[in-house]
Formats: sequence, structure tokens, C-alpha cells
Amino acid sequence: MMIITRSKMSQFHYNDWIRYFKKNNEHRLNIDFSKESILMPEDRILIQPSIRAFQRGEASEGRNLMRLAEIFAVKTGEKDYKEAVRWFIKEENGHSSYLKKFMDYYRIRPSTKSHLDYIFRAFRKLGSLKCEVTVLAAAEIIALTYYDALSKSIDSPALKSICRQMLHDELPHIIFQSYTLSHFPVRLRDKIFRIVLMGCTAVSVWAAFHEVYRAGGYNFRKYMWGNFNYLKQSIELSQKSQWKEA
Ligand SMILES: [Fe+2]
Ligand SMILES: [Fe+2]
Repeated sequence: MMIITRSKMSQFHYNDWIRYFKKNNEHRLNIDFSKESILMPEDRILIQPSIRAFQRGEASEGRNLMRLAEIFAVKTGEKDYKEAVRWFIKEENGHSSYLKKFMDYYRIRPSTKSHLDYIFRAFRKLGSLKCEVTVLAAAEIIALTYYDALSKSIDSPALKSICRQMLHDELPHIIFQSYTLSHFPVRLRDKIFRIVLMGCTAVSVWAAFHEVYRAGGYNFRKYMWGNFNYLKQSIELSQKSQWKEA
């Protein structure tokens, strides 16, 4: 379990985030497939459904997010937000392409529709930037436990390197979304919404992909504890007072 509230990024503002995303973009992953052996049929059955769903989820063009980011930038005067979001979407799309390369190598067909992705996208389009970013933060948290489990679920050096990169990138994403949420008042109902959303999302993902989590060393209790621990830290970071000290 990583502690995100003590990261120096918890003091970042949007201009720092732009610098961070640009720098991170200079060190993209070159996936080495030279040490891969064949993908055993049972391993394929194990990872295929979830990897297809996450590859699709990472591929969003973020048009709605960009539109809302523009409104937010005008309202708050946070002019750097739009550019930071553009870099964030680029990084997420990079994640999608890593998974796609792995899928192509093992001839795993991409998903044309994913039930979970549909729900996520529908939720995010409900309205405000606050709602969109709240849903995104839940997805980032799920990504952390998922890529950790996926990396341990089968013996593939290429997949492990992809998951390592994902974990390196996804943790800052939680801080980035939490910082944006700190621009809005945090009421009790917002906290309750985040807890209910996390619970529903986590249970749905577990129901769909628990075999991968189990193969990666998670039981339901460890999985839920991990997700809610990250949520607790994200809620802490989304308190405005946290950033005023910066
Ligand atoms: Fe991602
Ligand atoms: Fe992310």
C-alpha cells in the first residue's frame, strides 16, 4: 500500500502538473517482448476479459472532460488546468496503447463494448466537472489494485513491465484528481457519494474480474481495504485546507 498523502506532489499546482506530465512523457515505456514465452491457455482465459476492459477504459478521448475543463478554467481562473488535462488524457491513452501492444502480441482481440466502461462513461457524463473528476478518481483507485494484481497473476516479463509503469503513473493521477476536487466545497453528501461510488465500483469490478485479483494475491477483504484506503487518502487531499499550506 502506497501512502499518497505524503507525496511531494500533494503540494503541486497545475503548472507543476504540466511540468510533471511533460517530463513523464519523455520516459515512455519501450516494451521488451524478447523474454516472452507462449501464453498458456489458462493464463489467456484468466487475464483476457479484464485486460480488454481496462484497455478500452484507458482509451477515452476525454472530449467531455476537455469541455468541462474549459468551463472550470474560465470560472476559477486556473488557466493551466486545460493543458494539464490534455497531458493527463495523453498519458491515459499511452496506457491503452501499452495494453494494446501486449494484446496484439498475444492476439487478444480488443473489446468493442464493456459493461463497466459503459457505466463509468455514463456516470461521468451526468453533469459537472466535479462529478466527472469524482468518477475518474474512483477509476484511478481501482486501476492501482488492478495493475498490482495483474502484474502478479501470470509470469510475463512484458506484462510486469507494463503494470509497473501503470502503477508509477496512476498514483499521481489520484493526487491530480484530488487537487481538482479541492477547488470545490467538500460536503458530507460528497463524501458519502464517493464512498457509495467506490463501494459499488469495487464490488462490480470484483464480481467481473475476481479471478485475476485472486491470482495476483488479493482476497476480497484485502482488495476492499486497499481501495478504501486510497479513497480515504484522496478525500483527505481533496480538503481545501490541505493545499492552502502549500
Ligand atoms: Fe491509466
Ligand atoms: Fe489514470
